[in-house]
Amino acid sequence: MKSHSKVAAVLSLSLSMVLGAALPAMADPATSVNNNVNFSTDVMYQIVTDRFSDGNPSNNPTGAAFSSDHSNMKLYFGGDWKGIINKINDGYLTGMGVTAIWISQPVENITSVVNYSGVNNTSYHGYWPKDFKKTNAAFGNFTDFQNLISTAHANNIKVVIDFAPNHTSPASSSQPSFAENGALYDNGTLLGNYTNDSKGLFHHKGGTDFSTIEDGIYRNLYDLADINQNNNTIDKYFKEAIGLWLDLGVDGIRFDAVKHMPFGWQKSLASSMYSGNHPVFTFGEWFLGPDETSPDNVKFANSSGMNLLDFAYAQEVREVFKDKSETMTDLNSVLESTASSYNYIHNMVTFIDNHDMDRFQAAGSSTRPTEQALALTLTSRGVPAIYYGTEQYMTGVGDPYNRAMMTGFNTNTTAYKLIKALAPLRKSNPALAYGTTTQRWVNNDVYIYERKFGNSVALVAINRNTSTPYPITSLLSSLPAGNYTDVLGGLLNGNSISVGSGGAVTNFTLAAGGTAVWQSTAPASTPSVANVGPTMGKPGNTVTIDGQGFGSSAGTVYFGTTAVTGSNIVSWEDSEIKVKIPNVAAGKTTVKVTTASSTTSNAFSNFNVLTADQVTVRFKVNNATTSLGSNVYLVGNVAELGAWSASDAIGPMYNVVEETYPTWYYDVSVPAGTPLQFKLIKSNGTTVTWEGGSNHTYTSPTSGVGTVTVDWQN
Ligand code: NOJ
Ligand code: NOJ
Ligand code: CA
Ligand code: CA
Repeated sequence: MKSHSKVAAVLSLSLSMVLGAALPAMADPATSVNNNVNFSTDVMYQIVTDRFSDGNPSNNPTGAAFSSDHSNMKLYFGGDWKGIINKINDGYLTGMGVTAIWISQPVENITSVVNYSGVNNTSYHGYWPKDFKKTNAAFGNFTDFQNLISTAHANNIKVVIDFAPNHTSPASSSQPSFAENGALYDNGTLLGNYTNDSKGLFHHKGGTDFSTIEDGIYRNLYDLADINQNNNTIDKYFKEAIGLWLDLGVDGIRFDAVKHMPFGWQKSLASSMYSGNHPVFTFGEWFLGPDETSPDNVKFANSSGMNLLDFAYAQEVREVFKDKSETMTDLNSVLESTASSYNYIHNMVTFIDNHDMDRFQAAGSSTRPTEQALALTLTSRGVPAIYYGTEQYMTGVGDPYNRAMMTGFNTNTTAYKLIKALAPLRKSNPALAYGTTTQRWVNNDVYIYERKFGNSVALVAINRNTSTPYPITSLLSSLPAGNYTDVLGGLLNGNSISVGSGGAVTNFTLAAGGTAVWQSTAPASTPSVANVGPTMGKPGNTVTIDGQGFGSSAGTVYFGTTAVTGSNIVSWEDSEIKVKIPNVAAGKTTVKVTTASSTTSNAFSNFNVLTADQVTVRFKVNNATTSLGSNVYLVGNVAELGAWSASDAIGPMYNVVEETYPTWYYDVSVPAGTPLQFKLIKSNGTTVTWEGGSNHTYTSPTSGVGTVTVDWQN
């Protein structure tokens, strides 16, 4: 944040004047972890800040907001950033192999105690924001936050913050005195509140019934005052606020409730982050229930520029290991289907439990399912996130019982030792971070899968049946011939294997409840691109390309057929290259690496080149009558509007909440300050009807948000 770095600069200036000598330059906190756009080699640890460790009792809320004995689960418990710092400094997190933490939303929340049906509730969870440019005082002040960042970075831990620009706090449209009336502040200055909203900062359409995507976006989530992102004050405010936290050195953002905010606005927000000084890894929360599939969720992950928490993975793992309602064959199907539907599968954030679901460990049950689910997650595609306390086998059914105070910091639990054994493999064996996943042996209880990237391989065997061992015959792998000991050293009753030529594994018995990981790494024989982050950007933005075999001296990177050379190659190492996106046509394209010795890599597909910086525009069309089953879509002359291709048109547009049929609307991310041409089309999925007449024209604003309204032309 500008003012803070100025404070630091002034301080060091005056100190150096006193000392009469220049002080050593302070490390830029934002650049001291090496890669904050790609988390595939990391192990993330999700902390509900209030519930982890109280390092500073003097910042604890008092009175009715506080539960000093941690018994009233809806009140503050006192956990804070100093507590997390202590747990980094005492080695608890690094000892487990954690290389990233995801903490509660750090911003100032309401301090009122809100009474629902006689029960007191507080903002201990951080999801009742009121000022996104200030800190939650119960977690600490900006100095504490900077200390958290610098302590984490000094220990090679990235810091991810939760961020919730969907809403402020609980509000009632008829009672200004309820809670804090949803008030929103800009660094202490009141911008507006829910019942006195002259600037149009909020939606006033009541609570959502979750029946449609549109209903969920433009109505309130429960009673949370829903922010109107199609508003210049709001747009500017959030772009500034996110910039403030990024400038403080944050390495990643977890966006809350992405299903509930206009997708176009989120894309323009992501784009502004990636065009700024500190592009970071972003992932959103789009909740999916057990067995729920959602084309909209997939579309968001593939086109918003943000990644997603992998709810499909989490729910499946819970069904297979926790509830036993599905089998290992079903698990394999989900791994296969998600790998084909999500374009950026290595960026999906995997987990087995979180603060919105029952804790994985059930009270009084065997701990083996938890351990196996963790082993699976740590060796699967994606970015593993471990919910605080899962390694201590904490239990708790539903919110708030799934958010109890951390019960202890025992470094000898089997789960802790398991994470400690597997986390480093994500860095040392690229098969875990970037490999394909192939089923090698499966029945209802046993799953043996192989991860492979280049010449590196990991073979993982899990038998979820804790009473029946299984004989494993005719297993094939890509492991080179030899003997392999279980990376877990038998921690989960795994065995060693012997592999013959051609990858045939000598028959063995997989123990009841057994889990083993066998692995081998070897240098790349060809250059291989594994990941490009961010997955979206405009020409001139810097992206990071991870993989192997790029060589130590610079070659060429291609976006489509356009070469990046010279000073647009920012850095070049054997496993990581940073380049500036060249001037290349906007739209999805491939990224390839050609080494200095002229060998070309595989193509990374679906890198999304933007035309320019993005702004959000609401497109509205009046009098677009349709027959049942038909919807209206938007298409236009730039890649962001589908480049005149009906199959890439934007929509279906909405017609219920903000505007009503036969008016349709949609909030779209488009290049800023650009003359646009567009048309509306009607489609029932098979037949497309284009509007008649000339193209509509509209020049998008250079910043902020815009609205353009047209009549359907016959
Ligand atoms: C999803 C969060 O994960 C949940 O805990 C929260 O209550 C809602 N979004 C609203 O912020
Ligand atoms: C395709 C459409 O058919 C037409 O209606 C539109 O005007 C042009 N492209 C724009 O060039
Ligand atoms: Ca405290
Ligand atoms: Ca919303």
